Amino acid sequence: MIKIRFISADGSHDIMVEAAAGDRLLDIAQANGLPLEGTCEGAMACSTCHVHLIGGDTERLPAPSEEEEDMLDFAAGANRQSRLACQIKLTADMHSLDVKIPRAVMDNSR
Ligand code: FES
Repeated sequence: MIKIRFISADGSHDIMVEAAAGDRLLDIAQANGLPLEGTCEGAMACSTCHVHLIGGDTERLPAPSEEEEDMLDFAAGANRQSRLACQIKLTADMHSLDVKIPRAVMDNSR
């Protein structure tokens, strides 16, 4: 199992959950009550699934596609740790991932 730590924007919520290889980060976040809308359901058209990967085995994840990079350009508060949770599939060689929810989320699909 892979340990995923979710930290809310203001740091008031800090939870640890378990996930399996092949799980999509957006699905795990939503299943655990994190406020990620995922409006476009993974079509890379909204950026409401924007997260910051702040620790853990981030280097084991495949690099973002050009489309993901383009969408992140429009995400509020984007930085070098930014990813779209709908594009993150956990891999078997990962042990942990620390995920911070950004302060503001912008829906670019509207
Ligand atoms: Fe819309 Fe990820 S759910 S970009």
